Amino acid sequence: MQKAKIEFEYEIYTTIDELLTEDKDLLEQARKVTATAYAPYSKFLVGAAAILQNGEVVKGTNQENASYPVGICAERTLLGTAAMSHTNVPIITMAIAYNNLNGKSDVPVSPCGMCRQSLSEYENRTGKPIRLILSGMEGKIFIIENTGNLLPFSFSGDHLLGL
Ligand code: THU
Repeated sequence: MQKAKIEFEYEIYTTIDELLTEDKDLLEQARKVTATAYAPYSKFLVGAAAILQNGEVVKGTNQENASYPVGICAERTLLGTAAMSHTNVPIITMAIAYNNLNGKSDVPVSPCGMCRQSLSEYENRTGKPIRLILSGMEGKIFIIENTGNLLPFSFSGDHLLGL
């Protein structure tokens, strides 16, 4: 029997002012775009902004539905837009912010399981890791160098090919 361990490091910042200018700008865009979320049911407005390898910025917000499971998260809205407008261009960094109209928005949240799978597919497809900046509308910020860290043992197309 063998034992294995998976661990990863991430960065924690106390305020947005500690970030590099480019990161600060991307997080500000993610926070701002939360205003375009359609979240009448959860009142949890999520905004994502990503900078691509070609320098373009793509954004996404969550879009809910009266038939709850039909709703889509901000991250997957963004990924669909990026894949369509800038096909196969890697995402360098994605900032994800939220504005919770039910209460505080001052601790970072991380992508849901379904979004992690989508992010993983995008990373595999473009061959580049996606760096994540996670935060609310204020307070602490987490930076994770590689989204793949959030989904160990991920399922990928390689498994389908038997590779
Ligand atoms: N949501 C996102 O858009 N991204 C996440 O990472 C977590 C959750 C959305 C889905 C739903 O519209 C609302 O937030 C509450 O779950």
